[in-house]
Amino acid sequence: MNLNTLKQISELKKAKKAVILAHNYQIPEIQDIADFVGDSLGLARKALEVEAEIIIFCGVHFMAETASILCPNKKILLPDLDAGCSLADSINVSQLKEWKLKNPGAVVVSYVNTTAEIKAESDYCFTSSNAVKIVESIDKEKKILFLPDMFLGAYVQKKTKRKIEIWPGECHVHAAMTYEEIKNLRDEYDNNEVLIHPECACGSEAMYYSEKNNDKNVHFLSTEAMMNKAKDSTSENIIVATETGVIHKMQKASPDKNFIPINTSATCKYMKMITVEKVLESLKTEGPEVKVSREIAIKAKTAIDRMVETG
Ligand code: 13P
Ligand code: SF4
Repeated sequence: MNLNTLKQISELKKAKKAVILAHNYQIPEIQDIADFVGDSLGLARKALEVEAEIIIFCGVHFMAETASILCPNKKILLPDLDAGCSLADSINVSQLKEWKLKNPGAVVVSYVNTTAEIKAESDYCFTSSNAVKIVESIDKEKKILFLPDMFLGAYVQKKTKRKIEIWPGECHVHAAMTYEEIKNLRDEYDNNEVLIHPECACGSEAMYYSEKNNDKNVHFLSTEAMMNKAKDSTSENIIVATETGVIHKMQKASPDKNFIPINTSATCKYMKMITVEKVLESLKTEGPEVKVSREIAIKAKTAIDRMVETG
C-alpha cells in the first residue's frame, strides 16, 4: 500500500470527522484501513451509532442507501457508485407491486439486499443474521411474501417450518456454489468444519445431509457470525462457503487455522470495485454521495428500523 495515500486518508479522516465502514467482502487493503468491518446488520447499526459527519461506506449501493435512510444528518459516501448487487437487481418495484396485488393482505418481508424503493414497499426488512427471527415474529395467520433470494427463502422456510411465498431471485456469486464442492473438500481435509452463507445454492442439500447424519460441523451463518464461529472452532480446517473476502479477517483472528474457500473464484465484482485510491478521492471530494428521496426514505424507514431492532 502506498504510505503517502494512507497518510492522506488518515489526515483527511481526522480533519473532516469521517469514519470508514467496510463490509466483510471488501478487499484486504480496505478492511485494514477501516474503522469497523462487519456484516450488513453490523454496518447499519454502526452507521447509526458512530459520531461522524461523513461515512465512507466501503460496500455496495444498497448498504449505503440503508445507512443514508438511517442517518439523514450524516453524509454517506460510496467510493464507486457502480458497486451494485446482482441480487438487489433481481426484483424491481413494478414486479413487487404486481406480486402484492395478486396477494392482498400479505406481509412483505425484504432482504436488506434490495433498493430503497423496494424497502419502501415492504413491511419488514431483514439481513442474513436476523431473517429467521423476523419471520418468526410475524402473525402465523398472515401470508408472507419473501424476497428476493430463493436460497435464503428456502433456508428460512425450513428453519421456521412456515410456508412462505418466495421470489425466485439469486446472487450470482452464491448461486454458483454447489454441494459437490463442499463434499469434495470435506473428503480432502480431515478435522473440518463448514460455514455456509444461507444465500448459497448448496444450502438445501447441505442442510438435508447434516440433519440426516446429525452432523454438528455444518453451520449456516451471516458473514459476521462466520467470523465468531471460526474463532471459537476447535477444528483445524474451516471450509468457507461465501464470498472469499471473509477469509482475510478470519485468518487474522486465527492465524493457526486453515481456511479453505469452496471456490477461489467466488468473488463479488461489485464489492471489489472499492479501492484505497477511490476512498482517498471520496475523502477529498466528499463524493459521490448516496442520497434517498425524502418520500422513499420515510416509507422505507419502518421496515429498516424493524431490521435494526431485531436480533
Ligand atoms: P451479510 O449480511 O451476511 O454480511 O451478507 C451480505 C451479502 O451481500 C451477502 O452476499
Ligand atoms: Fe450482492 Fe451477491 Fe455481491 Fe452480496 S455477494 S453484494 S448478494 S452480488
